[in-house]
Amino acid sequence: MLRSDILLRVVAAVSSAWVLQRIIAGIFNVLYHPLTAFPGPRGAALTAWYKTYQEVCLGRSWIDVLHDLHRQYGKVVRVGPNELHFSDPAAYHEIYNNSNRWDKEAGLYRSFGEDRSSFGFLTYAESKQRKDIMAPLFSRRAIFELQDLVQTQVDRLCEILESNNAAEKSSDLFFGLRCFTMDTITSFCFAKSVNALAEPDFRAPILEAMEASLPAFVLFKHFSIIRRAVFGMPPWLSVLVSPQTAGLIRLQQVLGAQVTDVVKNPESLQGAPHRIIYHELLNPEASKGLPLPSAGSLYEEAQALLFGGSDITGNTLMLGTFHLLESPSLLKRMKEELLRAWPALDKPPRFEDLEKLPFLTAVIKESLRISPGVASPLLRVVPTTGATISGSYIPQNTVVGMSGCFVHNSEEIFKEPNNFNPDRWLEPNSASLERWLVAFSRGPRMCMGQNLAYCELYLAFAALFRRFDLELDGTSVADLTWRECFLPHFQGRHLQTFCRPVTV
Ligand code: HEM
Repeated sequence: MLRSDILLRVVAAVSSAWVLQRIIAGIFNVLYHPLTAFPGPRGAALTAWYKTYQEVCLGRSWIDVLHDLHRQYGKVVRVGPNELHFSDPAAYHEIYNNSNRWDKEAGLYRSFGEDRSSFGFLTYAESKQRKDIMAPLFSRRAIFELQDLVQTQVDRLCEILESNNAAEKSSDLFFGLRCFTMDTITSFCFAKSVNALAEPDFRAPILEAMEASLPAFVLFKHFSIIRRAVFGMPPWLSVLVSPQTAGLIRLQQVLGAQVTDVVKNPESLQGAPHRIIYHELLNPEASKGLPLPSAGSLYEEAQALLFGGSDITGNTLMLGTFHLLESPSLLKRMKEELLRAWPALDKPPRFEDLEKLPFLTAVIKESLRISPGVASPLLRVVPTTGATISGSYIPQNTVVGMSGCFVHNSEEIFKEPNNFNPDRWLEPNSASLERWLVAFSRGPRMCMGQNLAYCELYLAFAALFRRFDLELDGTSVADLTWRECFLPHFQGRHLQTFCRPVTV
């Protein structure tokens, strides 16, 4: 027999075995799987390709699919052979709380290529060890002490908005605010800003690359082989094969060089103007006798902080700004409060003073509520004990998740949830709402950067609305549509705003 015939037979046998195994698994999933009793589309019970079909083939936002499914099937839906999604706000706290030390789900979290980072570690124990090491850098006290660093970036942003205005141009605040958050996180974590704000029209290549790569993460989630291939190639080849991720590959090179440098030459840290992540991560005392992170792990940590620390805060600022500019009465109240608290333009208030302003605080909470934040369901694996969620017993190893958007858009909790209404946070019974503000998630895997994020939100909102008379340049609500790619991927025209400096 010819060698090619043997090969063909082997391929045919392997393919048939694979198809047979899929058919048997499909029958098992529909008829005998422990989740059989949960409602949901037959396709989702049969195979995980249901999700792939919706997200990759139809290009749908998974969150839109989830909304449709919950309307049809109720508050618990089987969205994959082994996956449930919940829509009842109470379920959020049953999944994400301090007593639950559940693993993150591998398929989703491996797609980012940050497996050895505080964000990417699947287990509670590994992430706790890493987060404990970095916690001193992100504590409330540390942020108060380093707030001048944030203020410096706010001032730079404002200077550029002024010069755009002097040139009779409106400004792209979608990218402008992201440049601000990117320069803040990079100077905060690495004492080296990427200087995104300096790029013409805020079109920083790193931000454009991150934005363009968001849909690629959806593909990577469904086809890990593609991710491994793209990131495993020599950089020049991956840039050719996947232009969408070209900027990311360049970013990997820059961050990689930074890490190599710090590992080879740790004494270079002594020259840093303040403590940065590498001081903490390379400190044997902080690691309590455990091995120090490898160069690969340091790199992945740096990348995770960069992604986590720029887009989401920028989006929150962008959406809050848009909604205030849409409402003259809210805008007036914001400006009046800031004028009272900040009478002399050249003496900006400190973070701790801004935190005491009720209307600004309400605007920030409402911006966090209305912004999609991390839009995706945060997938977790139910441990061996099983769990009760939304009144149902959930067997061990089930993948469960809930997007915070279902809490923030719940009509039972937030009256008219689609309206931007800071006053809901100022009503006499508003303290009870705090429990339902879950932008930073809850439990042991909640956001590590929330103090820094709040500092950025307070300083930037205050500066924008005190230093400028802002006016929308044609942006409408239709421009704010987004697709869920873990983070939201905005589809429309960027928020474009005239920023006219005030003189008093
Ligand atoms: C408004 C701004 C922000 C929001 C709404 C936000 C939201 C979140 C959410 C929902 C998670 C949970 C993700 C998951 O379970 O997979 C998270 C995790 C995380 N965030 Fe943020 N974040 C913000 C800003 C930041 C900033 C500025 C940093 C920078 C240090 C940061 C660093 C992290 C890290 C390291 C994690 C991983 C924590 C873990 O998995 O244990 N975030 N964030």
